[in-house]
Parts: sequence; C-alpha cells; structure tokens
Amino acid sequence: MLQTKQQIIDKLHKELEEQAKNNKPDPYRLAYHLMPPMGLLNDPNGFIQFNGVYHLFFQWNPFATEHGSKCWGHYTSGDFVHWKHEAVALTPSDWFDRNGCYSGSAIEKDGKLIVFYTGNVKNEQGERETYQCMAVSEDGVHFEKKGPVLSLPPGYTAHFRDPKVWQHNGRWYMIIGAQSSDETGKAVLFTSTDLESWEHLGAVAGAHVNQLGDFGYMWECPDLFPLGDKDVFIVSPQGIAPDGYLYNNLYQSGYFIGKLDYINAAFTHGDFTELDRGFDFYAPQTTMDDKGRRLLFAWMGLPEENEDSHPTRENGWIHAMTLPRCLELRGDKLFQKPAEELQQLRKKKVEHKNVILDTCPQKLDGIRGTAAELLIILNEEVGPDTTFTVSIREEAEITFDSTLKRLTLSRLRFAAKTKEYRHCRLAHLNSLQIFIDTSSIEIFVNDGEEVFTARIFPDPGNDTITFAANSRLSFNVTKWDMSFVL
Ligand code: FRU
Repeated sequence: MLQTKQQIIDKLHKELEEQAKNNKPDPYRLAYHLMPPMGLLNDPNGFIQFNGVYHLFFQWNPFATEHGSKCWGHYTSGDFVHWKHEAVALTPSDWFDRNGCYSGSAIEKDGKLIVFYTGNVKNEQGERETYQCMAVSEDGVHFEKKGPVLSLPPGYTAHFRDPKVWQHNGRWYMIIGAQSSDETGKAVLFTSTDLESWEHLGAVAGAHVNQLGDFGYMWECPDLFPLGDKDVFIVSPQGIAPDGYLYNNLYQSGYFIGKLDYINAAFTHGDFTELDRGFDFYAPQTTMDDKGRRLLFAWMGLPEENEDSHPTRENGWIHAMTLPRCLELRGDKLFQKPAEELQQLRKKKVEHKNVILDTCPQKLDGIRGTAAELLIILNEEVGPDTTFTVSIREEAEITFDSTLKRLTLSRLRFAAKTKEYRHCRLAHLNSLQIFIDTSSIEIFVNDGEEVFTARIFPDPGNDTITFAANSRLSFNVTKWDMSFVL
C-alpha cells in the first residue's frame, strides 16, 4: 500500500518520540560522525552548499535496520562540526518512487535547490522499474516533487540509477550508473538545457568501453567533475574479483582520471584506483563549495557486507558517514585530506616529541582515547627490515613494513573477533593522522596519499593506544580528545 508523505512523516515522528523515551545508553553512537537518528543509513545524496549552508542528504530507511523503501534523510551544517537534523526531504510516496527514493544529487538554479534521484519501483509482476526524478525546493528543506524527467533508454536493464547532475558551458549534464543488457556495468551521459528534457549521449565509461575489459556487472553512484585541468570520474563498480591487495571488499569505490570530450561525449581515462584501502567505504559523492574545494563524503559501510553482525542493530540503527574529505590531484593521484573545519573538534592536547621506540612496545602518557585524533610524524625514514605498528583500542592495528613497502590495517571481525586484513603498497611512511571515534577509525596516510576507513566495535571502555617496532624508530605524536557533537 502506498503511504502518503504525511503518513510516513507521522509514523516517523511517533517512532522518534518512542525512541527518545526508551533512550538506552549506546556506547557505539559516534561522537562526531553522522549517523541515522534510527534505522539504516547508506549513501550520501544531494551534497551541496546552498546559501552558505552545507546540505547532506542520505539514503535512509528510518523504520528498520535493513535496506528497504528508502527516504532521503537530511542534515545541514555551516562547518561540518555542528549538524542539524532536518525534516525528511523525500519519501517513497508516489507511483514513480513507491519502493524507494534512491540515490541522487543536487544543483542550484535560480536560487532554488533542485535534486535528481532515482525512483525505484517494483511492479505487480515483481519486476524492477526505474525513473530518474526531479524535486525542487525554495528553502532547501521542503521539496516539491516534479516526477520523472527521464525514462530508461534501450540497451539497459532496470539497474539504472543514481543521477549526478552538473553544469558545463551553459548546459546541464547527468551521469547515471547502469547495467547494459549484456549485464556489464556502465556510466551513461545525458544533456539538457532546461533540466526537464534530457538527450541520451551514450555510455562514456564502463566495462568493455575505452579499452577497459571486464569490470563488473553494475556501476553505482557515478560522479564526474573537473579538478585542476583534468576530469575525475568516481564510481562504485560491483562484481570485480579480488586481485592481490586490490578489490578485497565485496564492492569497490574508486576513480579514473581523464578528460571528458563534451562535444563527442567521449571520456578518455587511465586506470581505476580505489579511493579507500580499508573495510568500510562506498558510494562517495562530491560537491564544490564557495572556497573552491572539492569535498567528498562516503558511506562508511558497504551493502550486504557484515551488515548482519553490526552490534548497533540491537539498538535500532546501523551505519554512518565518513568524515568530509577535501580532494587534491597530484599528477594522476587523488589525495584526500580531512576538511580543516574538523580541527574545531579538537579539545585537550597531549604531545610527545622524539619518542624513541626500540623493540619494546610502548604506551605513552596521555595518548589514549575513544574519541580522539592522533597525529604521528616520523622523524626519519623508517629503516630497512622494520615493521612499525600502532594498535588502537586493542581492536585495530596499523602496520608499516619497510621491506614489503606495505601498509596494513587489521581489525577484529565484528562477531567472530578473529583478525581480518586490508593492505596497500606504500613506498615510504611519513605520517599517520588517525581519527578514532567510538566505533570507527579513519587513517590518513602521508597527508592523504592513502586512506583506510573501518568501523570497529571494541570494548567501549578500551582507550589504549600502543606503539611497537622491531628496531629503532623515532617519531612525534600529538593526540587531541575530540568533542562529542552528535
Ligand atoms: C548504493 C545504492 C545505490 C542506490 C541506493 C539504494 O549503495 O545501491 O545504487 O541508489 O544504494 O539505497
């Protein structure tokens, strides 16, 4: 039965009130990462700065900790530190989105905030239908749906979704994640002058396009934008087999650097690089703000992977967003840095200079925390045959191995509590900036050269941080306690 927007909102308010009444302490609610008030959060959507305020919408199933009929939840912030939970923006209450207002993006036009999203429909035969829809807001909070603006072109299955819209030389462009009829992943480009009628320009990237061979059965959440004098194309392909240290999560998120030829609708690009080397990162989306920064949020989770064993489900919620990251292109490599506003979260500081590690593991006075930022700067090149390990809350370990030129993150599996690993190649280790939250870690390596993101569920009271090496090593370390803002 299709529910009206008002019915969904009424139910939502009732459940939020219930939840506030039964409010049990939950040690895994995050201190400074966005999470759903209740239910399940997945992709960031409609990320935009509108009238000076950052709007971050998100895929939200408020009524269960499973995927289902998604709404667009909505947070706003002026500084990525203080967030306001706004009224639900889109509900699956129309024939064209009745089984979910799926992912999409936002633009500003004539002072209005306009969002594009995928209406997901299961018809009476149980088959999927997909509609790319538009909704308009004057104030950035209340949306009027305009319905579908684009239907499925021939040559694709109904796995056709996640429109990202931008403007270039006075025209609008939309890129969509797709599966072509031969069941391979594609990214499909459209153009428009009025945002309402869209011309199909074809697949600009995908498996078996541009000399790329097999590259998955579906591409989700595409995002294409200029950075410096190049174009960056971010996408989340599904169906890529693990290859050594690469592609070890169930689904991937990464980027191609290249150039989009708008006249011929052709994208020439280099290889695919994973954006994050950790366990929990998917469906990133970017926007550009009035400081000219290209900012990225991603879902700090993955569809299907480990979802059953998240302990927070018992408390009626699951998943969170990453921290906002600022993108920089150096050559053909994307560097990701935590948005500098996050420094406002820093409270008490503890610093140790010229710590000398020998073969004995060390804990350092005051270097501990369950919600903390840790900055470790190596004073010299890590010597040959050396491993250097930082253990976080006895749940996660980061190890640099100078022989293998490899950085590893291990964590304990959520339920089984056995170790699992992710690795990446790293020639030199200069610094580690580690954001520890009650149930997550994000590790920015060498000023953003690599990032590892993971949820962790340690013993809530465990705040230990231990340093170990198998030969002499010198570093400086600073720790800030972080504010609880959420
Ligand atoms: C990615 C995704 C999108 C879809 C949305 C549904 O995680 O599967 O392709 O629009 O989530 O919630």
